[in-house]
Amino acid sequence: MEEIAKTGSRIAAKRKEKKLTQQQLAGLLGISFQAVSKWENEMSIPDVSLLPALAAILETSIDYLLGFQPEKKKITPYEERYQTEGYYWGTKPNDMCFDVLKRFYPEKPCRLLEIGCGEGRDAVFFAQNGYDVTAFDAAESGLEKAQKLAEARGVCVKFFKADLREYRLSENYDIIYSSGVFHHIRPELQKELISHYKEHTNPGGVHAVNVFVQKPFIPVPPDSDGDDDTFVSGQLLTLYADWYIEDFKEEIFDCKSNSVPHRHCMETLFARKPE
Ligand SMILES: C[S@@+](CC[C@H](N)C(=O)[O-])C[C@H]1O[C@@H](n2cnc3c(N)ncnc32)[C@H](O)[C@@H]1O
Repeated sequence: MEEIAKTGSRIAAKRKEKKLTQQQLAGLLGISFQAVSKWENEMSIPDVSLLPALAAILETSIDYLLGFQPEKKKITPYEERYQTEGYYWGTKPNDMCFDVLKRFYPEKPCRLLEIGCGEGRDAVFFAQNGYDVTAFDAAESGLEKAQKLAEARGVCVKFFKADLREYRLSENYDIIYSSGVFHHIRPELQKELISHYKEHTNPGGVHAVNVFVQKPFIPVPPDSDGDDDTFVSGQLLTLYADWYIEDFKEEIFDCKSNSVPHRHCMETLFARKPE
């Protein structure tokens, strides 16, 4: 029931992606715009006979509109990993946070979105340093710890649960930050999703992103879930060809997660949207 109730927001998000007004969508379906408005305000849901045409116009599936996921796969293996006593990633922020602070200090009110915040170490650090922080992750267990960390540090962060493959932004941010997450995005979604995040960034705003990338001479890590490292070397950079590239680096480093020594290749990008 809860999923069906969200049909309205999915229709609204897809309609906006297609740059259609409620009136235009209604016209294509041969119905009144009030009907579309009622769906989007979750006061009613579309008649089943309209669903095939609606899905075709919005270039999506009926399953997506109704929130049906066949053989619902675990969104993230971190849901279990975060169910331990301590903090899986510790509470010290990633090094990239200090670069954000140095480069984009919040001299004026600054809205920062963290995508895939895990247990909140970076989001809380940003809030402590004066950013207005919103952060999401798919792992509820991580978000619970993140909230506790924010409370312990006496800061407020707007945490919420969302699957980045489906969730779409409705507001703009000055900084979009993500560490260790985008390589979970399937290749067919990468361009669309990053374009969407770019559109929802204020002019002059910044993206700070790091991502694991494939290198033919680095074996697949032992704790790979099979759906990570979807980026190839250099690809992240090309997705920001129309922005200023303020910094970009690629590093190979040793890792001992899972107690098995292995290596990763990581790219880190700071890009600014033209004014
Ligand atoms: C390597 S961890 C990094 C966590 C955090 N950024 C940090 O550095 O502490 C990757 C995070 O991405 C989240 N994640 C993976 N797939 C996701 C999805 N589809 N939607 C939202 N979050 C996702 C995981 O739950 C996990 O917290």
